[in-house]
Amino acid sequence: MAPPFAAKETASHAKCTAVASAFSEALSRVPAQARDPWFDSLCGFHAIPEDDPALPHGSVPYLPCPVATVLAAIAHANVTSEDVFVDIGSGIGRVALLVNLVTGAQCIGLELQPKLVAAARERANQLNLRGVSFVLADAVAALRRDGTGTVFFLYCPFSGTHLEQLLEVLEHVARRRSLRICCVQMSPLDRPWLTRLQSPNAELEIYRSTFAARE
Ligand SMILES: C[S@@+](CC[C@H](N)C(=O)[O-])C[C@H]1O[C@@H](n2cnc3c(N)ncnc32)[C@H](O)[C@@H]1O
Repeated sequence: MAPPFAAKETASHAKCTAVASAFSEALSRVPAQARDPWFDSLCGFHAIPEDDPALPHGSVPYLPCPVATVLAAIAHANVTSEDVFVDIGSGIGRVALLVNLVTGAQCIGLELQPKLVAAARERANQLNLRGVSFVLADAVAALRRDGTGTVFFLYCPFSGTHLEQLLEVLEHVARRRSLRICCVQMSPLDRPWLTRLQSPNAELEIYRSTFAARE
């Protein structure tokens, strides 16, 4: 059965906003500790999938970010329906789906593992969410080709050289447009072009770029 907030067509801004408000209302009625199983059941996520044995060295395997952490990131990074939210290493799409449903923002997931991307696309289709898309790619390569996004979410997808490369790409993007970056369970991003915003706890850090935006 379709969830109460489902819409046949969610592409227009007004419809995305209406869906977001109905979904947020439904979510607010679920006790905080029951929100992860509630959301998983809604999306049909029943088990954590096995990782691809070909996952490159340095890439972190799939692990879902708790709903409470995603909601805190939305609140503290002030994600709105005007944003383009990018989940770097999107797994089965849980974060991108949740952010789209709560805020109405256009959401893009970048993920290396084909099976996870297929699962994410299937869920987005089943929920009839047109504002969510998933790209099968290395996130750094994808952002080099197309630096779309105003909010970037990282639940520790990788570290080391790959993270350095990602930050170089994001620095280029930030010279054109103001960005926010949400990091979960990661070492602090110490960059002169980033300022740290207030966050609710040590496991979530939120940053804003400091270049004057040109777009
Ligand atoms: C800790 S999981 C986070 C999943 C999702 N963001 C969430 O919070 O539910 C990290 C994900 O990053 C993906 N990943 C790792 N390296 C990547 C890369 N270079 N490009 C794209 N995705 C990558 C992994 O396959 C995995 O699904």
